[in-house]
Amino acid sequence: MTANQMPDIELRDIRLTVVEPNGAERTLFDAMRFAPQPYERSVAILGRSGSGKSTLLRVLAGLHLDYSGEYHYAGAPLTITERHMADFRRQHVGIVTQSPTLLTDRDVLQNVLVGERRSAASRASECLEWVGLAGYERKRVRQLSGGEAQRVAIARALFSGPQLLLADEPTGALDADTETQILELFSRTVEHGCRVIMVTHSERVADWCDGRRVVRDRRLC
Ligand SMILES: Nc1ncnc2c1ncn2[C@@H]1O[C@H](COP(=O)(O)OP(=O)(O)O)[C@@H](O)[C@H]1O
Ligand SMILES: [Mg+2]
Repeated sequence: MTANQMPDIELRDIRLTVVEPNGAERTLFDAMRFAPQPYERSVAILGRSGSGKSTLLRVLAGLHLDYSGEYHYAGAPLTITERHMADFRRQHVGIVTQSPTLLTDRDVLQNVLVGERRSAASRASECLEWVGLAGYERKRVRQLSGGEAQRVAIARALFSGPQLLLADEPTGALDADTETQILELFSRTVEHGCRVIMVTHSERVADWCDGRRVVRDRRLC
């Protein structure tokens, strides 16, 4: 893996309203700011269920665009449109969720290569090696343990060499030992200049992070 320059990210004055399933409007964020300090290479996002943590990650990923305010990346404001944010996501962002969404009828290599050219197989193998799954290319994903499946998802997320890794409760379904292994993997990823923003309910995971924020009263505290 080649080392990246860790990007500055900043959300300014974000106001975001959602329509709940019952039709009621709810303001999730109001005058919200999020600007990790340079030393906060990894940041834990905590907060009650339904407070907006996953939505915050979707904003950072460029998957949720329906808000007012500014998103600055590496010192410049992003243009919040479908097209620009799709490019932004492809170039800079990796995403990991709690339950890896893998294609169960494909092998491990094909899962890392989803949507990529087959000629990128050596890059995919490099990513598998990076997450500790060297030689797993031809394994069926059904045969993997929960921790191994999460590693495949992380290899997939790191495929394009992102500067920003967004993880939504990535160890929420794993036992403590497996969680430690995933945190060690994230440590190496951070060492290579990738900023990690991670939603978690675990004090242990939050302690591992350089910084933490709590979603409370429509802001990050
Ligand atoms: N795209 C959306 N449309 C409508 N409601 C949404 C949308 N995204 C999130 N919500 C609502 O916003 C609230 C916060 O959701 P979420 O960000 O998933 O919270 P958390 O991850 O903190 O549990 C929930 O009440 C959810 O129903
Ligand atoms: Mg959530």
